[in-house]
Amino acid sequence: MYVLGIETSCDETGVAIYHAQQGLVAHCLYSQTDMHSEYGGVVPELASRDHIRKLAPLIKQTLQAGQLPSHMIGGIAYTAGPGLMGALLVGAATARSLAWAWQIPAVAVHHMEGHLLAPMLEANPPEFPFVALLISGGHTLLVHVAGIGNYQLLGESLDDAAGEAFDKTAKLLGLGYPGGPRLSELAEHGKPTFTFPRPMTDRPGLDFSFSGLKTYTLNTFNASAKTGQDKADIAAAFQAAVSETLVIKCRRALQQTGLKCLVVAGGVSANRQIHAKLTDMAAKEQAEIYFPRLQFCTDNGAMIAYAGCQRLLAGQQQDLRIFARPRWPMDEIAACREVGGG
Ligand code: KG4
Ligand code: ZN
Repeated sequence: MYVLGIETSCDETGVAIYHAQQGLVAHCLYSQTDMHSEYGGVVPELASRDHIRKLAPLIKQTLQAGQLPSHMIGGIAYTAGPGLMGALLVGAATARSLAWAWQIPAVAVHHMEGHLLAPMLEANPPEFPFVALLISGGHTLLVHVAGIGNYQLLGESLDDAAGEAFDKTAKLLGLGYPGGPRLSELAEHGKPTFTFPRPMTDRPGLDFSFSGLKTYTLNTFNASAKTGQDKADIAAAFQAAVSETLVIKCRRALQQTGLKCLVVAGGVSANRQIHAKLTDMAAKEQAEIYFPRLQFCTDNGAMIAYAGCQRLLAGQQQDLRIFARPRWPMDEIAACREVGGG
């Protein structure tokens, strides 16, 4: 079965086609970052309107790229949440309408489940059970993953998500939007002049807190001469603090669960230093570590097509209602019986 995946939860329109045996057949992405950068962040109403403009042409383009006529599509997967309500509704309404017109099933996918399963698109996928660190713009989660839909939350951020902290800190330093990649680029030119705290690492537990680092950055920046080098040094200190905090908590999660496999996904997993430090830690713990390929760390349609395909194969589908859930805790994701074939 060919599954069309649609992702519109935030500022990326992503479409892909996945086949259970052939794997990923085609994927296309349109990023709205240029449009939002003028405003210093995502403007929800503009995001929805742009998804409306781009989604249908992108679906056509993806079908063409996969050289598939639309009647070959056997199911549709769409991100139903969490995310921006208007943006989600564009994907959900389009997916549901196409499914009705083509007389095929459609399934709602949780965006973070998409991220979590993104490494499954690679040639050497991780095996269950594993610990997953999900680091995106809206979430920082440590999850025990026993199988698809079998998720147990081990820890989460009590305030800002890791990506959000990158974005807000970048804004404080005047780096604009998108903050994460810009801050990490600048950090490469920084020297280890400053040392920032590693929040919540001195007490037991697997929760995170990143909002204090933002204030620490602002105070350090205001007390500095505010030169270009100061900015780069502060960016490096911030990035080192986030990376090391993630390393400490992931090591703890592996030791606590006794698992020897770590999956890291979500936009922040594209960060080179975080990738390198977590890889080092995993080697020392004699654990396997898996990341999605770089382009699937951030939002994309491929991860939604994959997750939806698994759910459709397990017989799951939604009724005709247009379903979007801007807030959707991971522990409320429906279980999914694992099946092969298709
Ligand atoms: O997963 P994602 O594309 O969207 C959400 O689900 O939120 O993640 C976007 C987040 C943004 O906060 C962005 O700044 C961050 O990922 N990000 C990065 C990097 N690339 C993207 N953060 C740090 N370093 C990067 N290289
Ligand atoms: Zn995401």
